[in-house]
Amino acid sequence: MNNKVDFVPLDYRAPTEEELLNRSQAFLKMMKKRRTVREFSTRPVPDEVIMNCIEAAGTAPSGAHMQPWHFVVVKDPVIKKQIREAAEKEEKTNYEMRYSAEMKMDIARLETRFEKPYLEEAPVLIVVFKESYRIDENQVRRKNYYVNESVGIATGLLITALHYSGLVALPHTPSPMKFLNGILKRPSNEVPTVLFPVGFPDDDITVPDLKRKPLESITTVF
Ligand SMILES: Cc1cc2nc3c(=O)[nH]c(=O)nc-3n(C[C@H](O)[C@H](O)[C@H](O)COP(=O)(O)O)c2cc1C
Repeated sequence: MNNKVDFVPLDYRAPTEEELLNRSQAFLKMMKKRRTVREFSTRPVPDEVIMNCIEAAGTAPSGAHMQPWHFVVVKDPVIKKQIREAAEKEEKTNYEMRYSAEMKMDIARLETRFEKPYLEEAPVLIVVFKESYRIDENQVRRKNYYVNESVGIATGLLITALHYSGLVALPHTPSPMKFLNGILKRPSNEVPTVLFPVGFPDDDITVPDLKRKPLESITTVF
């Protein structure tokens, strides 16, 4: 196999100090407005917007450039219903049997429940799969590198792109999530990591008044 890659000039223009500061401030201000939303309007989202956001997520760096991710977009109401039913079944067991008392206390303050109407109400679901390993063109199993880190970064870019575009999303992790491989017909080398209902917030909704850790407590500078 020929692994050679051509090199091209870097497409980059150095910003002035003022531009640097302005852009970092504007980005911070925008990101402070990102919130998880659990009540969606049924207003549809243009396909192109979703595809642009996924393409942006796919620009993420990845270990040895293996790009170990796959994004499944679900708009079909029948498939959304199947996902909701399967997720609620797992989540009901979680709430009744699998979650520790500590976890129940931690999530109780967010008022989440095992019922997941947003899985049908949101116009789009995006499911992020991580590719634990690859099957190459000769059907040989090949390694991917730093899969969790790479997919975590791509997922962060996806959330950021959705938010920047003006959409809202809910990072949802029904556990276990293996049922998604069956419903979405994904191969066994792919593992679902997060499921995002995506769309517009329902009218007049509220969100928990959460505080962020202060900058000093999440940063150490030498
Ligand atoms: C990996 C991950 C998994 C999450 N899983 C769920 C979930 O299953 N259900 C849910 O309602 N919220 C879930 N959340 C959302 C968090 O509760 C939410 O991000 C957190 O409360 C902070 O709120 P914010 O996103 O508005 O800042 C998840 C968030 C992350 C990052």
